[in-house]
Amino acid sequence: MNKDENLAIDSAARLIADSSYVVALVGSGLSVESGIPTFRGPGGLWTRVGEPSMRGYEDFLSNPKLWWENQLAGETDAARIEFRDAIDAAKPNAGHFALAELEQLGVLQSIITQNIDDLHSVAGSRAVVEIHGNRTKLRCIGCEGRWHRHEFKTDEYPPECPDCGDLVKGDTVMFGEPIPPGVLQECIRETGRSDCMIVIGTSATVYPAASFPHEVKQSGGVLIEINTNSTPLTNIADVSIQGQSGEVLPLIVERVKKIGGLGS
Ligand code: APR
Repeated sequence: MNKDENLAIDSAARLIADSSYVVALVGSGLSVESGIPTFRGPGGLWTRVGEPSMRGYEDFLSNPKLWWENQLAGETDAARIEFRDAIDAAKPNAGHFALAELEQLGVLQSIITQNIDDLHSVAGSRAVVEIHGNRTKLRCIGCEGRWHRHEFKTDEYPPECPDCGDLVKGDTVMFGEPIPPGVLQECIRETGRSDCMIVIGTSATVYPAASFPHEVKQSGGVLIEINTNSTPLTNIADVSIQGQSGEVLPLIVERVKKIGGLGS
C-alpha cells in the first residue's frame, strides 16, 4: 500500500472513530472476493445478459402461478445459472467479517445492503437492512411476512400467506417492484441517523439506495467510499479509497481499533 493509500485509510478510520452513528451502504462489489460477479462493468451479470425488464413485477402480479412454475422449473439461462451457482458456493470474505467486527466493537450501527446473498448474516452482522431482499427467504407482498425458504411448507402455488392470505413470492425485490415499505422505512431511518456513511462496492446508480449517501452529505455527515473504480459519489466523498473492499476494510478496522484503543 503506498503512502497516499495509507493516508486515506488513516483519514477514513479517523472519520469513523469521530462519528456517532456509522452506517455502511453495500453493493455487489463487496461480494466479488467471495466469487460472486457484479451486475455492471466487466463480467457483470447485466453486462452479460442485459438488464432485466422493468415489467418483472407486473408480470408476476398478472400471473403468479406461472411465475412460480418457472421458479420451480429452475433457471435455463447459462449466465444466470453461473451467477446462482456462484452465490450458492459463496462464503463471506474479509470485507464481510470486517464489517461484522466493526458492529461488535460498537462502531458500526447498521448495514444497508443491496446484496441478496445473505453473506453479512453468515459473517455475523446482526443490524442488516436488506433493501433488495434476501434470496434465502420468501416474503408476503401484503403484510411483509418473511420466512426462510426451507421453513415455508406448501404444495399450493402460488403460495398464500398464512397470516393475511396475500401472495407469497421470493424475498428478492424484482425490477419494477417497490421496495417493501417496512424495509424502506428502516433505510430512511438509518440514513437519517447517520453522520458517517461508508459506501462499499456499489456503482451508486440504482435508486433509492443511491440517494442515501447524498442525504447523509446534505445533512452534514461524511462519506467514505471504497471501490475499485470511481463512481458518481467519488467527487463528493470525504475520503475515497480505490481498492478491493476485502483488503481495505480490515486495514480500516485495525486503524479504528488503534485510535479507539478498542479490542487488542
Ligand atoms: N471491491 C470494491 N468494489 C468493487 C470490487 C471490489 N473487489 N469489485 C467491483 N467493485 C465495484 C465496481 O467498481 C462497481 O462500482 O462494485 C460496484 C458494483 O456495481 P454494480 O454491479 O452496479 O452493483 P450494485 O451497485 O450493487 O448494483 C445495485 O442494481 O441491479 C441492481 O439489484 C441489483 O442490488 C443491485 C443494484
